[in-house]
Amino acid sequence: MKKIQISPSILSADFSQLGNEIKRLEDAGADMIHVDVMDGHFVPNLTIGPPVIKALRKHTKLVFDVHLMISPVHKYIKDFAEAGADIITIHPEATKNLKESIEQIKIFKKKVGVSLNPDTEISTIEEDLENVDLILVMSVFPGFGGQKFIHKVIEKIKLLKKIKEEKNYNYDIEVDGGINFDNSKEVINAGANILVSGTTIFKENNGNIKKNIETLKEV
Ligand code: DX5
Ligand code: ZN
Repeated sequence: MKKIQISPSILSADFSQLGNEIKRLEDAGADMIHVDVMDGHFVPNLTIGPPVIKALRKHTKLVFDVHLMISPVHKYIKDFAEAGADIITIHPEATKNLKESIEQIKIFKKKVGVSLNPDTEISTIEEDLENVDLILVMSVFPGFGGQKFIHKVIEKIKLLKKIKEEKNYNYDIEVDGGINFDNSKEVINAGANILVSGTTIFKENNGNIKKNIETLKEV
């Protein structure tokens, strides 16, 4: 089994202190930083864009795992790449041509992620699986932190793991939304190797993020 990595979502951090929050996550053992970008159109919420990512870039060497919930996403890929994203994850519904957008991310030498909403089937991206570095399985409908984990996605994680093994593909399996201490083990055992977490990391155990990261990694 691949080493389990935790990608804390800064959506639940103190936005007035983002630089310090990222430093605090790095010191606490975070493996990467999950940045949720929302446009108020593809999802019903607005967050941050490339200038903020650029400003944060100097605060850490950790991988920036940038989850784009914006549509149309294609024309913005360059801006996020240049701002300092390391992994750029897009939703197939947010682009006219998924293959072109995947290629666009590769032009900038960034890792490519594709995200599946809870009701988006693997079959919609079947022919792209061999060309991506990461599949982001949404276990909530994107838009907000603090939602309840949708249990049926466990089957999707298992299937992605099975396809990966059968076809010898390379993608990481990352799961995003409603991850907590009660479901993390099941998510890992189903085949995920990266867990995103906002609420659990920042709020559990009185905000002891080191302990929360360690606990989420337990199998
Ligand atoms: C939802 C975001 C997630 C989410 C994670 O649209 O993509 O990253 O905020 O937060 P929790 O862990 O609170 O569900
Ligand atoms: Zn996310």
